Amino acid sequence: MTSAPKAVVWVDVISSAQQQAKRPSLQQELQAYLDVGYDGVFESGRMDVPLKLASFIQCMKCEVDFIDQGSSTSVSAPMPVGMNSGDGSVSITAKNSDIQLNIYSLCDDEEDIEEIHADGEGDGDDSAAPVVAGIACNLPHRQLDGLWENLYYDHSTKSKLLDYAATAMQFARAGISDKVVSCNRLVLLHGPPGTGKTTFCKALAQKLSIRLRSFYKRSRFLEVNSHSLFSKWFSESGKLVQKLFEKIKDEIEDDKELFYVVLIDEVESVASSRSHGGSDPQDAVRAGNAVLTQLDRLKRYPNVLILTTSNLTHMIDSAFSSRVDLTMYIGPPNLEARYEIIRSQIQELIDRRMLNRQTGPTTNRQSILPFKRLKQRIRAADAHATATNTMEASSVAAACATTSSLPLPVEAIDDPDVNLGLKIQHVASVCECVGGRVMRRLPIRCFSMFHARTHGIGTMEMSVDEYLDLLLLAINEEKREEEEARRQQQQEIGSEIPCSNHSSCVHENENDASAGTSTGTGARAGAPYALPHHSTSSSNGSAERSQVGPTSKQVDPMDEEMTSAR
Ligand SMILES: Nc1ncnc2c1ncn2[C@@H]1O[C@H](COP(=O)(O)OP(=O)(O)OP(=O)(O)O)[C@@H](O)[C@H]1O
Ligand SMILES: [Mg+2]
Repeated sequence: MTSAPKAVVWVDVISSAQQQAKRPSLQQELQAYLDVGYDGVFESGRMDVPLKLASFIQCMKCEVDFIDQGSSTSVSAPMPVGMNSGDGSVSITAKNSDIQLNIYSLCDDEEDIEEIHADGEGDGDDSAAPVVAGIACNLPHRQLDGLWENLYYDHSTKSKLLDYAATAMQFARAGISDKVVSCNRLVLLHGPPGTGKTTFCKALAQKLSIRLRSFYKRSRFLEVNSHSLFSKWFSESGKLVQKLFEKIKDEIEDDKELFYVVLIDEVESVASSRSHGGSDPQDAVRAGNAVLTQLDRLKRYPNVLILTTSNLTHMIDSAFSSRVDLTMYIGPPNLEARYEIIRSQIQELIDRRMLNRQTGPTTNRQSILPFKRLKQRIRAADAHATATNTMEASSVAAACATTSSLPLPVEAIDDPDVNLGLKIQHVASVCECVGGRVMRRLPIRCFSMFHARTHGIGTMEMSVDEYLDLLLLAINEEKREEEEARRQQQQEIGSEIPCSNHSSCVHENENDASAGTSTGTGARAGAPYALPHHSTSSSNGSAERSQVGPTSKQVDPMDEEMTSAR
């Protein structure tokens, strides 16, 4: 017998500040609606707004977190009420979940984005433009809305980072002595280029500002402009770093209700190893020391979280990395994540009337099954086949058990939604090793191929089937181009350049075993990714095993737990 899963349902409600003010009881009304009036199943994604509150709410989103209470039951995707999944999955409804409601309004674009200056001294040129040391905005911000939902990793990557960061803030708020439990609230995301590290940090900042609203009335986000700190006043980097951090301290000093997130993107440029000083090693050492000193000072403020990213971790000073509390590896998306990226793109293209859906009776975006739902349908078909010994159902199950034998015998089944899902899964499996950045740009490539074939933009609408066929061509083209770029670089420097995504990418689970190639499309040619040489705690955000690595001291992400507290 399987124990019942426990689910936390986060419902985020975006309203404008004025609308909220007009309906002070919005919180209670919505809570009552969700607790009693809502009779549907909760699924992560957009929710329908209750009709009578429609003029007060811009958007409602739901995120379902599952707490598997030790059973082996798959609980990560609910089935529609009444549907017998045959695999023990459970529908998440108001009755069996804990609903957490967050109502907030988004800060608007122009009024809230501010340049933070850290003026240099010493070049005597008063007319020089000030150094833009960072860009700050209040949170939650409209520009960061939607980032979280549109990042796809394996099932636990996002929640692990979110939970860790929220817990670190809780410890700080509770005043836990750092002599007893040490925490700098400093996170490093590392991995190959284009895997979403920067986006993930921004999305996390936004998410935390919403989740921690009951503790912090205000939230602010500062993205440090690492490069300008170094380029403008050469040999002044140390001072610029110091000035920037002083500005941060001024903002947070007496404001206990302010949650402050600092993002230092490509942190190797400000925390570079003393052995990689470039043309001015003295300045690099000064800047590196300034960063370390300032981080140590910032630690006194319990309301600050520092997020950093790098794809050149071998350049980071070990004194910096030893201060990092959480080092997390972010690799190329796994099969499920790639499926979801493709699915989200098809949905968007259908919504914008760029694609039509000829493979099924509806053009409804909901009919494109999420990966987990596809698996459930297949399992249900399998169960049905076992029970009835029906040939057609068992052929689906067999096909899906070994996607290595792709293309699948999808004609064998009658369900157009499953059929389409299997085609998407096939394309996703061919995208093995392809980074998120590359996957995000494939639709343009497909459409330009389509326009070349149909002689012009907008003359014909593409079907989803045609789109998926072109996607396969586009992926192969990307892979060829990347291979070509690498070959050229190898010729130029006369030595072998490993694919930068390669270190994180080999055959995946049983659903992806034979697909794709092991070349790492999406890598920045000539920038081989090295896992942190200092790290004893490298982590795996993508559930993909490391294969070949450019440095001898690499840590296999799969051999390590995903997160680690130092
Ligand atoms: N797993 C993913 N799911 C969805 N989108 C992704 C994923 N990975 C990357 N992307 C998309 O790719 C684009 C590039 O991401 P981003 O700039 O954050 O990558 P990065 O890891 O910071 O790269 P770099 O190391 O070059 O700075 C963004 O539009 C992002 O949304
Ligand atoms: Mg980045």
